[in-house]
Amino acid sequence: MAKPISIQVWNPSGKYRVVSTKSMPGDRWIRLLTDQDCRVEICTEEKTILSVDDILTLIGDRCDGVIGQLTEDWGEVLFSALKRAGGTSFSNMAVGYNNVDVSAANKYGVAVGNTPGVLTETTAELAAALSLTAARRIVEADQFMRAGLYDGWLPHLFVGNLLKGQTVGVIGAGRIGSAYARMMIEGFKMNLIYYDLYQATRLEKFVTAYGQFLQVNGEQPVTWKRAATMEDVLREADVISLHPVLDKTTYHLINKERLGIMKKEAVLVNASRGPVIDEAALVEHLKANPMFRVGLDVFEDEPLMKPGLSEQKNAVVVPHIASASKWTREGMATLAALNVLGTIKGYPVLGDPNSMDKFLDESSPVPAACPSIVNAKQLGLQISNL
Ligand code: GLV
Repeated sequence: MAKPISIQVWNPSGKYRVVSTKSMPGDRWIRLLTDQDCRVEICTEEKTILSVDDILTLIGDRCDGVIGQLTEDWGEVLFSALKRAGGTSFSNMAVGYNNVDVSAANKYGVAVGNTPGVLTETTAELAAALSLTAARRIVEADQFMRAGLYDGWLPHLFVGNLLKGQTVGVIGAGRIGSAYARMMIEGFKMNLIYYDLYQATRLEKFVTAYGQFLQVNGEQPVTWKRAATMEDVLREADVISLHPVLDKTTYHLINKERLGIMKKEAVLVNASRGPVIDEAALVEHLKANPMFRVGLDVFEDEPLMKPGLSEQKNAVVVPHIASASKWTREGMATLAALNVLGTIKGYPVLGDPNSMDKFLDESSPVPAACPSIVNAKQLGLQISNL
């Protein structure tokens, strides 16, 4: 007999049963569901990460859809249980879905939603914040102040790296990588080198135009370069930010050898997924190269850090908060709820992840569509351009 699990219920008489494995920011997402005849059950268990067994209990015998989190293991066991309970719909409250076995979802005919678009700027801002914090040693300096160690200005005190005129390297120049690049170029007038399988045409055009603008104003123009290999970025850049998706090809993308070709005083930032970096190799590299700095939002064995990382003064570490602005988190909750609602109602799927604003604008009616379903094609769902 499964252990009972605590929940909060909204609209108890709703026809469709939708479960959220966590409480999510804002209440618009709850209203959007309850207004459309959904009974919403929110798990209120204290524990941070729910087990597969906990989620099986939440799904129960009848469940139309589930909103889940990136910390949960959504595979064969959960999708088969959801199917048995009559469910057709799941959405991660995240843009990344490496915690979801999409082929298992396909097998059981369950739609898998994610929440793109709404995280772009917030995540890029955190990557920019980590870049600056690591380059200018803000955390070390803050700890020094709080420890009462400051007894006067000194020429060598917490000397870090100047960003202006240096090169920012971006690995993965999709939506978030390009937004980050723009922040570093506009904000600090850095030159760009990037590596991506696809050409980032809009970003290149922006850097060219901004460079011309600076030149006209008598300033040094910024430049861009699309690298032929990732190694070129690692060798040339002073600050490198990682923005790939995590899959078999990007697991341990940054390993001992690649760390070895980076500049001794480089700054490395990761707000994508932890396993993109071989974290044990990174710890050794940080120990051997005290001027090399890293800013990490994600970790290989989250929520744990590899042994030794927390002792490294040249590492800035934050707990996977890249998307944690109020606007973004409320928007993610809204998109996840609308993915689940739309699938239950049989709405078409929006084909364009850059058009999420339509779902977030509270002053106009919500479109009758699913914002983003990653396996729409495999399930033969109708795609709409709205
Ligand atoms: C957060 O990490 C996300 O993928 O949304």
